[in-house]
Amino acid sequence: MRQKIVAGNWKMNNTIEEGKKLTSEIVDMVNKEGVDDVKVIIAPPAPYLSTVVGLTDGANNVEVSAQNCNEHESGAYTGEVSVSMLNSIDVKYAIIGHSERREYFHETNEQLSKKVDALLKSGLTPIFCCGETLSTRENGNHFEYVSNQLSEGLFHLGEEDFKKVVIAYEPIWAIGTGVTASSEQAQEMHAVLRKHLSSKYGTEIANNTSILYGGSCKPDNAKELFACEDVDGGLIGGASLKAKDFVDIVKSF
Ligand code: 13P
Repeated sequence: MRQKIVAGNWKMNNTIEEGKKLTSEIVDMVNKEGVDDVKVIIAPPAPYLSTVVGLTDGANNVEVSAQNCNEHESGAYTGEVSVSMLNSIDVKYAIIGHSERREYFHETNEQLSKKVDALLKSGLTPIFCCGETLSTRENGNHFEYVSNQLSEGLFHLGEEDFKKVVIAYEPIWAIGTGVTASSEQAQEMHAVLRKHLSSKYGTEIANNTSILYGGSCKPDNAKELFACEDVDGGLIGGASLKAKDFVDIVKSF
């Protein structure tokens, strides 16, 4: 059985006070709702990670993720956060290769593959993002383009390491636009990606890999998206900033 996951990516939003309130509300609601079969992940901005880890400590099924990490162990990389720093404050996940990082910070698949290595070496779980632009989709190259992101970012991994990775498909044209992929479009891409994983790692490993959908996922469309056979949850941006909306998405399974 694949792990169902709903992860909230706050991006560069919230003050520390707002972040504390949001975290506490999410923890309370998740505990009350008893959604034990879904792993809930909160990805706050880096300065709040330690606080959010503290607030989720002991909470049922709520984990904390960084939004990024540096691929180097330590050293003269001003402004960056290493995996060992994340590990030292009990952060268990890191979002890697979000399209905003690929676009604004010029992250390449090669660099992302090193970030993945650094995370796995320290026992953290990468949430590896992939997704195409609208023009790539309109040109009909989207399946090949996204499959290639997985090949270049992840396919250097051996089976045991690969099994620990979570994948998030986020079509760039759906992020923050209010235009979500239809459930058919999401399912179609997820199935293509799972087949691609299977060609490298075999059916069993591919069938056990969680592939999340991200891009304007909201309480009113999550149910339909999560009902798709190959969609194992969501990576949520805007709707993760309101506790009720986020937990309603968690409850959509
Ligand atoms: P939105 O849900 O705001 O479209 O953002 C999706 C996203 O980028 C999550 O990482």
